Order: sequence, then C-alpha cells, then structure tokens
Amino acid sequence: MLSCGPRFETARRVGPSVRAAVAPSKMNEPTASRPAQSTLAQVVEYYDTHPINEDQIRSAVLASGIAWEDLTPEILQRHDQDHFGGLEANDLLIDAARIRPTDHVLDACSGLGGPARYLARRVGCRVTGLDLTASRHESAQRLTAHVGLDDRVAFHLGSALDMPFADATFDVVVGQEAWCHVPDKPRLIAECARVVKPGGVIAFTDILRRESASSDDLARLAVEMTFPTLESLDGYRDLLEANGCAVERRDDLSTLWTRILVDRLAMYRSLGDHTERKFGTGRKAGWDQAYSFFVGLYQAGRLGGGRFVARRRVGSIRP
Ligand SMILES: C[S@@+](CC[C@H](N)C(=O)[O-])C[C@H]1O[C@@H](n2cnc3c(N)ncnc32)[C@H](O)[C@@H]1O
Repeated sequence: MLSCGPRFETARRVGPSVRAAVAPSKMNEPTASRPAQSTLAQVVEYYDTHPINEDQIRSAVLASGIAWEDLTPEILQRHDQDHFGGLEANDLLIDAARIRPTDHVLDACSGLGGPARYLARRVGCRVTGLDLTASRHESAQRLTAHVGLDDRVAFHLGSALDMPFADATFDVVVGQEAWCHVPDKPRLIAECARVVKPGGVIAFTDILRRESASSDDLARLAVEMTFPTLESLDGYRDLLEANGCAVERRDDLSTLWTRILVDRLAMYRSLGDHTERKFGTGRKAGWDQAYSFFVGLYQAGRLGGGRFVARRRVGSIRP
C-alpha cells in the first residue's frame, strides 16, 4: 500500500513548479526540441489562458440574468463542462460505467470540476477530482463550494502521472477529453489501474489519432493544442489489457465528434471578445488558428474519438 501523505505533497508542488519551468519564449518551439519535463508546464500555461474559465462562466451566468449569489448546480452545469457533447456525454459515460450512489469516483484531470459536480448530483456518489493546473483546481474548489456540493466533491492538485492516492482507493476512475494532454499514456493507464479497486471500472472518452494522421499533424497538435502524444482506439485497448483490465466497451465517437466540433469552434469564436480582453489579441488569434486546424483534422478523418469502459480484473497482477 502506498502512503498518501508524501506523494500528495509532491503532487501539490507540481502546479507552481511546472508553471515556472518554461519561459514563454520557448512555447513556440517544436515539442521535440523542448526538454521533456516542460510538457506539463505547457499544459498548465494552456489552461491558464483557456477561453473557458471561471470569469467567463461568471459573465455567462450574469448575462443570463441570474445573480452570482443565486447560482445553483443546475444553472452552473449549463456553463462548466469542458468536453465534447456536454451533459449528454456525462450521462452516457455514467450509464456505461454503471456508477452507483455508494461508489467513490476519481475524475482524473477534472478541470473546473463540472463533470465531477454533475456526477455527484446525478448519482449521489462521492467524487474526487485531480488536476495539474492550479488555476483550474482553485476554480473547481470555489465553484463547488459556491453551489454547496463540497460535502461530496473534493479536489486535489497533482499530476495524473503520479496520483496522490493509495492503491485501490476508488470504485471508478473517469476522464473526459483530458488524457490527450498527458505525455506518458502507459504510465497514466498504469496509475488509473493502480488506484482503482480490483473489480472497479476505468471509463473515459478521449481524443484519438487515426491512421491517416501524419507526423506533421501530430507535431503541430503537440505545440498548438498541447497534445504531446495521442493514443489510438487499439492503443488504449492494449494499454488497459496490459494493466490487468478487461475492456468491456470501446465505442468509436469519431463521426459524432466531427459534428460537435464544428459547433464548438463557433462557440469559441463567440467567446472571442472575452478571450481577447482577458488574455490579449495574440491568444485569441492563436486559439482560433489552433482550434480551426484541430477541427479540420476531424473533418479530414485524421483524428477521432473513443469511449472506453474497462474493468480491473480481480486478482490481476499489475506490471
Ligand atoms: C479539457 S479539460 C477537461 C476537464 C473536464 N474533464 C471537463 O470535461 O470539464 C483538461 C484538464 O486536464 C488537466 N490535465 C492535463 N494534463 C494533466 C495531468 N498530467 N495531470 C492532471 N491533470 C491534467 C488540465 O489541467 C485541464 O484542466
């Protein structure tokens, strides 16, 4: 059994230390020329300047005529989901994983905490979120307390590559459109399999590379979208199997996501003024360029999406 204390202290330091690890001038260099340890710092910078953020959510709530003091979980959940397909995608994942009220669920890479709050409310279970980016982590904590869900939903600051949790802590591990940012997928899946109980479930959706994705496409995504590597539909299956999990479902979401992403690009463009005011003209233009390229790869059939449900075998010996 691993001890939680020291691992958690290490993980708590990841946010600030990685934030300082990459000078802004290095951010435009190709990934291959950058030191490996800076990859996490790039992700933190990407999410520190993301168009969807706590201020933007507050503006959207106020623009809908609701005072911030009157915010409820039902209103917040219309604005705080940072993945493809919104609440419907949450429902599909919750149902596919058959999450129960007695479960303790880990949301690995929980962002602003939208899916964690939704899950806790819909199912009534306890949820723990883990995220690398201090600004995301702090917003998740504030938003959760503000809508009165902090008795059931808690957040930790740390890396999914070194999870600050003991072995076999959770009944279910979930993730949505976030593991694409994690540089070492074998270690990520090994960590998920370590912290889930034997018989427990790992259920997630993620951005995937398809066969026609070129090395130039992937190199540009690494720089502009901070996807250091992308896994494939078969790749994730193999990693789950190699870590003692039986894959129960593997759904190809590529066609659905291509449609969703066209709308999502329009949504980001509608946030353009807010992004420009908060982060400057360069970030607004850079985001639009990167996201247009990303959506174009879906339209060209070079990127895809997948939903996976895998169960950790009872008695499995993890490598
Ligand atoms: C697109 S957001 C998804 C958030 C959430 N799943 C949702 O649907 O709202 C991706 C999140 O992953 C986090 N992240 C990326 N790499 C991570 C890592 N290695 N460890 C923990 N969190 C990470 C980022 O900080 C960001 O908040």
